[in-house]
Amino acid sequence: ADFLATVAEKSDGAALRGDYSKADAHYVVSQDWAAYTEEEHALWRRLYQRQMALLPGRACDEFIEALQAMNAADGIPEFEKTSQQLFAATGWTIVAVPGLIPELTFFEHLANRRFPVTVWLRTPEEFNYIVEPDVFHDFFGHVPMLFNPVFADFIQLYGKGGLKAMKLGGLDQLARLYWYTVEFGLINTPQGLRIYGAGILSSGGEVEYCLTPGTSSRHIHLEIERCLNTLYKIDSYQETYFVIDSFQELFDGTAPDFTPYYDKLRSGNPLPANTLLPHEVELLPAQ
Ligand code: PHE
Ligand code: FE
Repeated sequence: ADFLATVAEKSDGAALRGDYSKADAHYVVSQDWAAYTEEEHALWRRLYQRQMALLPGRACDEFIEALQAMNAADGIPEFEKTSQQLFAATGWTIVAVPGLIPELTFFEHLANRRFPVTVWLRTPEEFNYIVEPDVFHDFFGHVPMLFNPVFADFIQLYGKGGLKAMKLGGLDQLARLYWYTVEFGLINTPQGLRIYGAGILSSGGEVEYCLTPGTSSRHIHLEIERCLNTLYKIDSYQETYFVIDSFQELFDGTAPDFTPYYDKLRSGNPLPANTLLPHEVELLPAQ
């Protein structure tokens, strides 16, 4: 992965690099688009072009089609313009944030169909690898998928599920589902496996790695309880990729009440990231 932080790490108190001094009670700031420098716009264009050279035949069609309609190739986009497009498509809006935000706030935004996007861009030295999510990861990686109505509904329900998991003590489990779907998910299509996870789509190296046959990483069908119980890697490529057959399958599979999962899994031992259970089938056979 080219970044490390996720909803699981959002409130650990570590120093964050954004400017939180102007944030409102929901951690929302103004994007201040005019303040981006020409160097930053140029770096965005380089990031965009590098990813676009890798994504055809690897990213899912839903991502590529939405990204192209967003017209985000020429520099760091104005959130407000894309937000209006997005609202017309699925009723979601984009809100600007200084960086990582508390879990509660993050879930409240998602539950209200608002996607928080970090305003700052990485430095040129971080072209290939960044620890915290920046505007390139958040905007390029996440926003296109919110144009898909089923995926957009799924993310809203995830936000509601997060508020519920906070009360039930299920956050560790729920964060694993986010990681293995929203960040690192693959989807099976008639043309083969494709990427929909933002952590892969915004990464220079993992786009190719995750679809390469014969690596030590697993590609197995997403099973919800299994995923909720599987640890993940934050400082290397994933050792397991969970594969869905459709976004409707993801939506339907996560719709049931998770309370029994949390009750069962909380007290047990989670599975290591490289687990392969006896009944599980590798979906990317070596060619
Ligand atoms: N159905 C889950 C619950 O009851 C909530 C959820 C929905 C979680 C969608 C993730 C994605 O807790
Ligand atoms: Fe992300």
